[in-house]
Amino acid sequence: MEQNVMWAFFSLPPSIIKHSINVAKLCQKIAQHFDIDDKLLFTCGLFHDIGKLYIDEQILNKRSCLTKEEFEIMKQHTVYGYELLKESNVNELVCLSALYHHERLNGTGYWKKKKEELPIVVQIVAVVDVFEASTSYRPYRFPKSKKAALRILKDPELFNLV
Ligand SMILES: [Fe+2]
Repeated sequence: MEQNVMWAFFSLPPSIIKHSINVAKLCQKIAQHFDIDDKLLFTCGLFHDIGKLYIDEQILNKRSCLTKEEFEIMKQHTVYGYELLKESNVNELVCLSALYHHERLNGTGYWKKKKEELPIVVQIVAVVDVFEASTSYRPYRFPKSKKAALRILKDPELFNLV
């Protein structure tokens, strides 16, 4: 792995580093159930949000809802992450996890991709990302219980892994 990927990762805000490490560890555990290389899934989880390095911290840390313009800027973290990883010759699935981790099976994600277009590895990162984010503390809300988070993930329209 090129050094610039690790440099970029450790330049992220600490809260995103923490979230990414948690996502990576959960992905690694889940890998065993899907017969997928756990190191690969760990790496997909670790770098899924790396593109946030290029998003203004004012937008990243905003406590209220994002405006339409801010949301469009925020969406770009997936593209920035994909491009950074692609340029660094990282495994294609790691690049695609950065690009498509906000997709939902019914096509309501950032880039309106459908299930058929999303590799299983990317689907796992998407599920784990939501689970980790909703069960963790944020300055503007309390964490959901694991039970409540699993309820969201059981919506077959959005996810189908649980
Ligand atoms: Fe993200």
